[in-house]
Parts: sequence; C-alpha cells; structure tokens
Amino acid sequence: MYSADQARERRRPVTIARLRRMKEEGTPIACLTAYDYSFAHAVDAAGMDVILVGDSLGNVMQGRDTTIPVTVDEIVYHTRCVTAAATAALVMADMPFLSYCDPSMALANAARLMKEGGAQMVKLEGAGEQAHIVEALAGAGVPVCAHLGLQPQLVHKIGGYRVQGREQAAAERMVEEALAMERAGADMLLVECIPATLGARLAGELQIPVIGIGAGAGCDGQILVLQDVLGITPGRVPKFSRDFMPEAGSVSGALAAYAAAVREHRFPAVEHSF
Ligand code: KIV
Repeated sequence: MYSADQARERRRPVTIARLRRMKEEGTPIACLTAYDYSFAHAVDAAGMDVILVGDSLGNVMQGRDTTIPVTVDEIVYHTRCVTAAATAALVMADMPFLSYCDPSMALANAARLMKEGGAQMVKLEGAGEQAHIVEALAGAGVPVCAHLGLQPQLVHKIGGYRVQGREQAAAERMVEEALAMERAGADMLLVECIPATLGARLAGELQIPVIGIGAGAGCDGQILVLQDVLGITPGRVPKFSRDFMPEAGSVSGALAAYAAAVREHRFPAVEHSF
C-alpha cells in the first residue's frame, strides 16, 4: 500500500511530464472513463491519474450499439461536466468518428474539446494515416493520445470487435505505426485488445506512456470503462474487464480497489489478457 506522503504526492495535478516520469519510474498509471460530474468527482477522489471522456459514452450513456453516432457537441458537453469535478486527474477527451478527417477539421474540433470542454488532452483512433493529423495537433500545442489496436470507430470496416495484432506481420505494423505516432508528437498511446506480449513490447519500445485496455500487464498503465468496474454494464462484460464492486461494496471502494490493483500490478491478471 502507499504511504501518506505518496498519497499526498499523488493528489498534485497530473501533467504529461508526470505521466512520463511515472513510466520511467515504473509506477503504473491508473486511468478510467467518466462522463458526468458526480462520477468524475468519485473517480478523481479515488486517485485516478487520467480520466477519459470516451466516445464509449455512446454505449454506456446513450445505449447505442456503436460509438459512431457520438458527436463533438456531446463530447464537449460531457467533458465540461467532468472537468468541473476533476481537481487532480488529467482529463482526456475523445475525438468522435469523422471529426478529424483533415488537419483543419481536427484543429477546430480539438479546440472545442479544450476551450469549451476544458480537456487537457485529446484522443484519436487511427494508425499510420493519422500521423499528419497528430503532427498538426501537436504542432499547435494540443496534447494527443493516439489509439491503436482495436479501434471501435472502425467496427463496420473491420466487421466486429476482435483482438488485433495477433499475426506477426500485423504486430510489426502496429509497432511501426506506434513509433510513427510518437515521432509525429503524440504524448501518449492507448492500445486496445492486443496480445499481452505486444502490449509489453510497445511499452518497451516507446518513450511515451502506453496505456492498455485488454493489452496485458506489461503496459505502462491501464484503462477501463467506469460502468464495467462498477458492475453495472448491461449485457456482456468484456473479458479484459473486471467488476470491483463485489469485493468493495461501494462506489468509492470499487474505484479505489481498481486504482490500487493497477498500481500494485494485480490488474490485469492473465485471465483478462489475450
Ligand atoms: O471510449 C472509450 O471509452 C475508450 C476505451 C478504450 C477506454 O476509448
């Protein structure tokens, strides 16, 4: 467990430099989604390093099948709710599907997420073809997290939600794409549903923090969807997730248990990995 000094240190506002230091020191980075003021307050109070206002709000807040219908207005609205609560966690907001088709569109929409929503970082899905978008955003001073591996915005193109990078060639391509994103100026990488060995390799090869969801214990940090951690996801819960409510018995307990399990390398376990 953490000493009082460490706990105090953890409540200082999280910055990109701090996330880098955590990677260098081998301190796992605990991240979680939130979409509204009250839950963001609880997530922040539980000591999370990063809160993501994910386009997963299309699923968990709106009951849609995919993230595709989510709009920039909706992300701005939810980001504003979350930033009203977050005092220490760094707030990252998702760029919705087709909101970053060219550099000027990406800049205009990232400006909305940061100026109107108060986001401190934006996240966008995409492989090599998005490097020039990341470069434009980074060049304009926008902190960027690139999202590789399973990209839910491409569900109709790839025909479902499945593990990516299993074959050697695909894994090599992903490493190249990740390095290209880092060279383009990305400050963080999020990887979803990839083999644990590939997650660990990416964390080893990149200077920037690599945050995993279904990407194994070798990543520099972990992220999950809030509703999965609280066991209130309707329907099937993904293999990579874990409901912390039964052991904790309260919302604040479950959030603290998740953060502690990440920091103490107890989550994800082998059964949550591919
Ligand atoms: O939108 C989202 O919640 C995500 C997950 C990978 C955390 O991007």
